[in-house]
Amino acid sequence: MLRRLNILLLEVGGDIVDGVGIYPEQKEELVIRDIHKQYSKFYEYLSMIPDYIEIIIMPGNHDATRQAEPQPAISEDFVQEYYDDPRIHMTGNPLTAELHGVRVVSYHGRSLDDIISAIPGMSYTKPAKAMLSLLKKRHLSPIYGGRVPLAPENTDYLILEELPEILHMGHVHTFDYLTYRNTLVINSGTFQSQTSFQKKVNLQPTPGKIPVIDLQTLKIVKMEFI
Ligand SMILES: [Fe+2]
Repeated sequence: MLRRLNILLLEVGGDIVDGVGIYPEQKEELVIRDIHKQYSKFYEYLSMIPDYIEIIIMPGNHDATRQAEPQPAISEDFVQEYYDDPRIHMTGNPLTAELHGVRVVSYHGRSLDDIISAIPGMSYTKPAKAMLSLLKKRHLSPIYGGRVPLAPENTDYLILEELPEILHMGHVHTFDYLTYRNTLVINSGTFQSQTSFQKKVNLQPTPGKIPVIDLQTLKIVKMEFI
C-alpha cells in the first residue's frame, strides 16, 4: 500500500515520545521510563520506513526542548542518530516550508487546548474546527496567559502572515480535516491509545489513523494501521 501511494515525505508533528513525568500517573503507564531510550525506540521505527522517504520532525510539548513557543528543534543531546541520518530534517515548532511546491505551515498544536476551552462549540473530537479558528485569527497561539508558554522573541513567529495551502497540527491525538477556501486544515492524529490523563479530560484519541496527502491535488487518503 505504501509503495503504491508513492509516499515521498513524512512529517511528524511533534510529541515524538511521551516523555517522563508529564502527568501524575504517567510512570505507571510507561513501557520505557528513560527519555533517551524512548527516542532510540522511535528511531528504530523510523529505520523501518523505506529509504526513499524524507522525514521531517518537529517538537511538541512532550519533547526534550524548550517548552516556550516557538520551540527550537529537539536537541542533538537526545537524538544524535536523527541528526546523523541525512534523510531526517529536524525543525523547530512552528515550521513554514514549501514542500514539493506546496506552502505548508506546521504547528504542534498546544494552543488548541486554550482555544477548545475558550470558545463555545469547540471540542477535542473535531480539532479541525478549532484549527480553522486559528487560521481565521491569523495566529497560531492567540491567547496569552493560558496553557501555552510564549517566549518573548523580537519577532512573533506564530503569526500567519501568508495563508498556507496546508495547515498541519497534532497534539490532540485526533484525526480530522476540513477544507477552507484554498487551505487544507488537517490534524494528523496519533499512534498512542487513550492514557489515563486523556480519560480524565474526556479526550478520545483516534490511534493509527493517518492522513496521506497528494501534494498535487491536496486530496487525502486516510490510512488505518490498527
Ligand atoms: Fe502535544
